[in-house]
Amino acid sequence: MTTTNRDDINRRTENRHLLRRLCAGVDSVKTVPIMRLLLAVFLAAMALLWVFRGAVFVTDAFGPLAKLFDALVQILLAVCTVVGFIAILIIMGTPWGSKRAREDLQKIGLINHAGEAPILVSKKQDKNNPRLTVWEFDPCGIPLQEWEDKQARIETALNIIIAKMVWGAGRKIIRVYAVPAESDFPALLRWNDKFLSADNFVLVLGESLLGPVTVNLAHIPHILLGGSTGSGKSVLLKLLLMQALRKGAEIYIADFKGGVDFPKVWHKKCRMCFTEADLLYTLNQLVAVLEYRKSRLAETGCPDLDAYNRATGENLPRLVFACDEVAEVLDRTGRSKEDKELLGQIENRLATIARQGRAFGIHLILATQRPDATIIPGQIRNNMDFRACGRADSVLSQIILDNTSAAEQIPKDARGRFILHDGTIFQGYLFDEGQL
Ligand SMILES: Nc1ncnc2c1ncn2[C@@H]1O[C@H](COP(=O)(O)OP(=O)(O)O)[C@@H](O)[C@H]1O
Ligand SMILES: [Mg+2]
Repeated sequence: MTTTNRDDINRRTENRHLLRRLCAGVDSVKTVPIMRLLLAVFLAAMALLWVFRGAVFVTDAFGPLAKLFDALVQILLAVCTVVGFIAILIIMGTPWGSKRAREDLQKIGLINHAGEAPILVSKKQDKNNPRLTVWEFDPCGIPLQEWEDKQARIETALNIIIAKMVWGAGRKIIRVYAVPAESDFPALLRWNDKFLSADNFVLVLGESLLGPVTVNLAHIPHILLGGSTGSGKSVLLKLLLMQALRKGAEIYIADFKGGVDFPKVWHKKCRMCFTEADLLYTLNQLVAVLEYRKSRLAETGCPDLDAYNRATGENLPRLVFACDEVAEVLDRTGRSKEDKELLGQIENRLATIARQGRAFGIHLILATQRPDATIIPGQIRNNMDFRACGRADSVLSQIILDNTSAAEQIPKDARGRFILHDGTIFQGYLFDEGQL
């Protein structure tokens, strides 16, 4: 690209930017009363100046010369009014720190082929989440992919933590949702019953920089949790079960650790399985319920459990089966032939629920710490669409999320910090049995 070409492009960009600032200024005058007031003060000042111009602009001339002088003063005042008016509008339409932001992005090399950095066109608080600031940029032709590749550098340059970056206004704008760099997840967020969602059947997991992280079991029926020991899986699993209980679900729990993870208080409210035989019996029951509900829904022509309950006036509850350390349960190494047969059946029932459970309100919440792909068969894993992984090595992260982001982005000392399949990081609520 020649220098003349580049200068041409730069000039056109500047003109476009000036026009946009002017339009933004007009908008802000329309919407922000203080801006209208400022403009009114300016116009009033100019009007006063015009009225008292004889006293302000004094001349010794008289006769036609004095008339000419007055005409010149009037022209000057008219020009100043128009130019000042436009200048004020442009200043009003320029977001605070826009020049600085552009220079900072230039420095980190977020530039197009003409050497231009993106232009900040507006910066405001997010309406839905006051913690977030939305920076709107004219990307000057720099694709979103490049922004994402340079995310860490943009964060340093602008002194922010980016929650997400998306296209806006028909791909003319890139919106960066961010919080100040000093902000971070609180290390501890205690569960409070007021966080319970009123929506059917939404469970709340914790908070990301974008606000609460939730999962609606009516849409995404099964949940897979991963993370190394001490990452906070069991706490999160129990947080979800507690909410499901409050919402009237029936809970089934496989606990082979002799009640270490699920103390007595759970035994009263949930159906517990302590042995493999008991587990298979329970899963058989769940599959039988699934088959029963399938035929009832088919008879009534209802697409799912909620529709069925609405149509019939019945109140069939959702059923949730939970297993912490599911890999331990399904591991067949060193087991006898009969045991292997039994485990095969358990796996088979879990796969049936994973495949068909959604419409019939039968859900799985499974957790594991074992980085062992063969342990959770594809039939189960592939149907578990909501996946969260806490602190983990890259192998476990890969198994849970199909990428290594948990190993890269969750600090080694974090507890209750998880990352979702879509990259959202959140701090889970800490919940203890006393709140059950
Ligand atoms: N959301 C959380 N916030 C803060 N601390 C947590 C959270 N979840 C777990 N912890 C801490 O981590 C410890 C281990 O959690 P746990 O759920 O038992 O881990 P895991 O099941 O992954 O081994 C808990 O005893 C608690 O002290
Ligand atoms: Mg655990």
